[in-house]
Parts: sequence; C-alpha cells; structure tokens
Amino acid sequence: KFEELGQTPPMGWNSWNTFQTKIDEPLLKEMVDAYIASGMRDAGYTYFVLDDGWMAMDRDNNGNLVADPKKFPNGMKEFADYVHSKGLKFGIYNCAGTKTCAGYPGTHGYEYQDARLYASWGVDYLKFDWCNTDSINARDAYTTMSKAIRAAGRPMIFSLCEWGNHQPWLWAKNVGQLWRTTSDIHAGFDKDLSNGSWSSYSVMHILDLQNPIRQYAGPGHWNDPDMLEVGNGMTYSEDKAHFSLWCMLAAPLIAGNDLRKMSEQTKAILTNKEVIAVDQDSLGVQGFKYYSFDGLEIYVKPLKDNSLAICFLNRSSRQQNIYFDWKEHTLVDAIAKLDIDFGKTNYSLRDLWTKKNIGTTQHAFKQIIGAHDAVMLKLSKQ
Ligand code: GLA
Repeated sequence: KFEELGQTPPMGWNSWNTFQTKIDEPLLKEMVDAYIASGMRDAGYTYFVLDDGWMAMDRDNNGNLVADPKKFPNGMKEFADYVHSKGLKFGIYNCAGTKTCAGYPGTHGYEYQDARLYASWGVDYLKFDWCNTDSINARDAYTTMSKAIRAAGRPMIFSLCEWGNHQPWLWAKNVGQLWRTTSDIHAGFDKDLSNGSWSSYSVMHILDLQNPIRQYAGPGHWNDPDMLEVGNGMTYSEDKAHFSLWCMLAAPLIAGNDLRKMSEQTKAILTNKEVIAVDQDSLGVQGFKYYSFDGLEIYVKPLKDNSLAICFLNRSSRQQNIYFDWKEHTLVDAIAKLDIDFGKTNYSLRDLWTKKNIGTTQHAFKQIIGAHDAVMLKLSKQ
C-alpha cells in the first residue's frame, strides 16, 4: 500500500492559496461540497488538504496537537469523516520546525506522536513545511517524519515543502512522493512580483526552474512546482497556459481557488480530462523544453502507447504565429527516451483545449497564438 502511493502526480485542493490561515469547518465543508458539485472529484481530484492554520496555538497536556476549537468545534476526526464520506481523501499540514510558518506548533520532536494522531484521524496526505528549523538537518528531519508515518501504519502521501533549498530531488525519492522545488507561487504570469513578497515566484519563473531537475521525477517521486493559481486572478489564457504547463511537467495538480465561486472558464480548465490525462499518464515522464525562440517555446512529454503531448507556449505579450513543419524535425532526448523523426513516422493531431482532431504531422502546423497562451496537442501514432 505504501509502495502504491503517488504512482501518478497527486491531485487535490489545498486551502492556502486563497484562504491562508482563515479556515474553519463551515467554510471547508462548503468547499468539500463545491468540490463534488463542480465535477472536480469526477475529473480525478482526490485529496482535500488543510494547510497552515488548523491548529490551536498549544498542544494539550499529553503533548497532542489539537484542532483550533473555535474553527473546528467538532474536532478534526469529525471533519476528516465528512471528507471521507464524500469519497475524497483527507490531507493536513504541519512543519519540520518548532513552529509552522504561521506560528502554530511544529512537529520537531513530536514526529511519531503526531503521525499516530493523524493516522487516528484518518489522514491520507501530509504536507510538511520548513519554517523555524534553525540547526535542524533537512534530510534527517524529513526522513524521521517519513519513518514516523510508516510506523503509524496508515498510508499517507508525504509532501516535502522545503522549497528546494536542500535539493530534495537528490535524496527524497524514498522519503516522500513529492517535493517542492521553489519558493511560493503567486498568481502572476511573468516577472511580476507586484504583490511585494520576496518569496513569491511567478508562474513562468517557476517553470524555468523545473527543466534542470526533470530527470529526478517519476512514479512515486515528483517535482512539485507548487500548487495551482488557476482561478486566482490571472487571465483565462494565462490560467490555461499555467495549467497546460503543469500537466506537461507531470506536476501534482493541487487546486487553490475558491471552488464555490469558480467561473465556468476556471472550471473548464481545472476539469479538462484530456489535459489532465497528460499529467496523469502512467509513463510518468516530466516534459521538457524542446525549443525556445523569441518568447515562443515548445514543450514535449512522451506518453504511454508511444503517443506524445506537445505544448506551444507564447510567453511574450504579443500575438505570435506558430509555424511548425513536423517533417523538418526530429525529437531526440536521452532522459525522456525519445527518438522520433517526423519525416518517417506519421502522427494524428488532437487539440486538447478545443477538443478537435486537426489533421496529421504530414502537414505543417499553423496557428495564431495569443499573448500568454498555450496550445496543447496530443500526437498519436498512425
Ligand atoms: C510556506 C509554504 C506554503 C504554505 C505556508 C503556510 O510558505 O511554502 O505553501 O504552506 O508556508 O504557512
């Protein structure tokens, strides 16, 4: 059971990107209901994860963490049962340090006790942060918590959140199923740090940091470029580009918007099953940047059954013309184990956003692509 965790990138929803610590049981129950009603569960999202802010400021007399009694008057077990009753899995947050990033009690020194408590509540996913960790060794701390979860006996996805500071891709393959690779994302497309937070990275900046570590991702151990900002303030095309690229990267798909208030466009992005299938493809290869010129980039992700996903990204702020004559191109890549000559092999093309079949690689692909937008194609061998 532990071995089966995270064979495809985890999918779910997390409270942080919209609500930070302002979470409570009534709000979260509405969110669970919206998760179901919106079709998110049916599209493959499974986890419902509480981020920082769920705890009381002090442990109890036995050293146990307690849910904030004002926010969760019925306790955390009752809320976990509610999540499970809707066919979802339940996730929670804590931190490897002495306190969480928002100042709630951390797990340092309580790893086994906290893991047992989570198991007794029915927790299925633990996000484990890295604030207040002076003089704590990252690899040791995350390994201890990983062992504590195993000792508690309940399979839980273990999500490392030390922002890539200690290169977890080099050592965490058997520690957890995903590891953050960067500082926190925010809902900005490119080079926009207008929210004033030094630790917040825009979508394109995070994207650029994933290519050099792509060889470390695979089934059961994923690079995590942070949670989704779809529906949190970017334009429709920016959201579509962000979601497309995260799927190309085989990134965990953890939505972070207010599911009760999603626009139809946001919902259509988050629940596009054909795009999600690229993310969830069982081959588990992280896509890579194949081509880059003048703000236009091409990403490639091999899929099972010898099919391929190709994403054209226009990160410039002007409309561009895509002209791609397949027959002029070969796709050779050792890490992704690709060796394709489009001059020799013919593929059919499907546009995964318009959901239309659009011919074959016998003909050059021509399309106008708007600013900050992406076109995503699936190529199937003829
Ligand atoms: C860190 C993490 C975020 C979030 C907050 C909570 O910044 O990277 O994803 O969990 O802490 O305080």
